[in-house]
Amino acid sequence: MTEEEFLRISRFVKSRYGIDMSRKKEIMQGRLENTLRNRGFRNYHDYMNAVEMDTSGSLERELVDLLTTNHTFFGREFEHFDYLRQVVLPALKQKEEMSKDLCIWCGAASTGQEPYMLAMLLKDYFGYEHPLWDTKVLATDVSTAALRQAMEGKYTAEQIAELPDTWKHRFMRPVPHGECYEVSPDIKNEVLFRQFNLMEPFPFRRKMHIVFLRNVMIYFDKETKNALLQKVYDCMEPGGYLFIGQTETIDRTIVPFELVQPSIFRKQEEKR
Ligand SMILES: C[S@@+](CC[C@H](N)C(=O)[O-])C[C@H]1O[C@@H](n2cnc3c(N)ncnc32)[C@H](O)[C@@H]1O
Repeated sequence: MTEEEFLRISRFVKSRYGIDMSRKKEIMQGRLENTLRNRGFRNYHDYMNAVEMDTSGSLERELVDLLTTNHTFFGREFEHFDYLRQVVLPALKQKEEMSKDLCIWCGAASTGQEPYMLAMLLKDYFGYEHPLWDTKVLATDVSTAALRQAMEGKYTAEQIAELPDTWKHRFMRPVPHGECYEVSPDIKNEVLFRQFNLMEPFPFRRKMHIVFLRNVMIYFDKETKNALLQKVYDCMEPGGYLFIGQTETIDRTIVPFELVQPSIFRKQEEKR
């Protein structure tokens, strides 16, 4: 990959998807070289010409699948789920007692572990009252391949090992003759998967009570991250909670979130 080819591809992914690969030439090359070879392109310029001219969008989707990092796992940063159970859900349950409607968005859902865990927690927390509430989780990601896997909802025994035992027994079913487990239909029905690029204007009609945006802003530069956080702030309900990855930070001089604890933020309640 020449320097010029690298610059062309980095500019493309940054301008369309916010992903900053400007210092990741080796990673980029490692992820693209098989595709280049298998598809018979002579060089990366020819490949990018084809990506840009492909009106079906399928080459671009493949490029995005190759360049995004979809690493995730059940039980990741479990403290967030504890905090939801102990603080956020009791408060929201009281606040939304009349509407019985919570808007929950997981904005970098990857292969589904995170939104499924949210759905399991919600079902567990609301218990027999769960059918009275609308607590569907909107789960979005830009990667077609990750979303396909997420919707399938099948995981190996090793992948579900970190799920709490009670959830494993209640919400995962062994796949007959398979070596894996599948998320139960009552949990799948609680998660709505959609493809969505965080760089696009947000299409939500309603304000979010809970937003999970964990371990995705690490791929964006400061300006992209700040612009995204402003959109996230605007899409949230006053008093709503934002969860980011535990190694991430946000600049609160840009967006006026209250810091609840590191990696958990709250949009201020409206003054009466
Ligand atoms: C490392 S995973 C994080 C998954 C999960 N949130 C977690 O914390 O385990 C990052 C995800 O962000 C997604 N992503 C990257 N850029 C995106 C964009 N512009 N719009 C939407 N999703 C994006 C990737 O496809 C990937 O699935």
